[in-house]
Amino acid sequence: MAGISDSPARRIARRFGADMTVSELISAEGISRDCRRTYDLARFDNLERPIGLQIFGANPESMARAASQLAELNPDFIDINFGCPARKIVGKNGGSSILRDLDLLAVIVGQVVKAVNLPVTAKIRSGWDSTELTYLEVGKIIEQAGAAAIIIHPRTKTQAFSGQADWEVIRELKANLSIKVIGNGDIHSPEDARRMFDTTGCDAIMIGRAAIGNPWIFNRIKRYLSTGEIPPEPSPRERIELAIDHLELNIEYHGMPHAVFRMRGQFCYYLRGLRGSNEIRASINRLLSPDDIKELLFNYIDKLSNENQFQTTNSVQ
Ligand SMILES: Cc1cc2nc3c(=O)[nH]c(=O)nc-3n(C[C@H](O)[C@H](O)[C@H](O)COP(=O)(O)O)c2cc1C
Repeated sequence: MAGISDSPARRIARRFGADMTVSELISAEGISRDCRRTYDLARFDNLERPIGLQIFGANPESMARAASQLAELNPDFIDINFGCPARKIVGKNGGSSILRDLDLLAVIVGQVVKAVNLPVTAKIRSGWDSTELTYLEVGKIIEQAGAAAIIIHPRTKTQAFSGQADWEVIRELKANLSIKVIGNGDIHSPEDARRMFDTTGCDAIMIGRAAIGNPWIFNRIKRYLSTGEIPPEPSPRERIELAIDHLELNIEYHGMPHAVFRMRGQFCYYLRGLRGSNEIRASINRLLSPDDIKELLFNYIDKLSNENQFQTTNSVQ
C-alpha cells in the first residue's frame, strides 16, 4: 500500500506472521530514469522476504527495463500493478487504466516476464466499471503471458474503495485459471479469512487495510485457520508498545523528521478505539521530538493500566 507498506511496516508484518510482503507501487519510469527517490521505495531488508517489488507504468519498454533493473536488487518476485485507481496513476495511463487496453496489458506482462528471471505476478481489479468487467479475459491474458500468479481486488476502478468487494469474482477467476489466484478485499478478521478461502477456493489471501496498525491480524488468522480458535485481540499496552517500536524502525529507516511525519497517520491506527486516544493523537501531532512522543505514549500506557486496575478493584468490591 502506497504510503503505508514501507520497509519498516513490511518488517513488522513479517514478524507478526505475514508469509510474504509487497512493496509500495514503484514508478517504472522513475526506475528506468535512475531516479533516486523512486529507488528508495525499492529498498528492502532480508527480514521482509519473501518480497515482491511492485511496478506500474504504461510503456512496455520502460516496464521491462524497470523490472530488469529491480531484479538486480534480488527480490523474490516482481508484481505489476493493474489495479491502482488513483488519478495520479490513471492519468498517466498506468494502474487500472490498462484494464481497458488488453493488447497493451498482454505486451506489458509478456515483456516483463521476458526481462527477468524471477516469478512475475499481476494485481488487478475486476474491471474499469460495472459495464466493463474484464477480469476473466484479463486473467487469461496474464496467465498466457507467463505470470506465476494473479492478485485480485474485486472492485472496479470507478468503485475505488466504495461498496463491497465481490468475492464471487475471485471464485470465478480461480475456477477458470491454472495459475495461483490470490484473493484480496475486505478481510478484517480471522473469520473473514476463513470465509474467503471457503467461498472462493483461492490459493492465498492478501490483507491490506486491516493490517494498518494491526499486524496481529496475520498470526490471528493463521492460528484460527489451523486450530479453529479465535485468538484474543492485542492489549492496549501491546498496541502502544508496538507503535513505539514502529516509530523507532521508521527513524532508523527514514531518518528525522520524516519518520515522525510518516508515523502520525499510523499512530491513528495503532491507538484506534483506546480510551482517550483522540487527545493523545492530537498531542502527538504537535510533537516533533521522538523522545517526547515516546514519553507521552509511555505515560498513556500507565494511565490506561491504572484505570484498568481501578475498574477491576471497583468491580470486585
Ligand atoms: C492507502 C492505500 C494504498 C494502497 N496502495 C496500493 C499499492 O501501492 N499497490 C496495490 O496493489 N494496491 C494498493 N492498495 C490497495 C490494496 O492493496 C488492496 O487491494 C485494497 O485495499 C483492498 O484490500 P483490503 O480490503 O484488504 O484493504 C492501496 C490501498 C490503500 C488503502
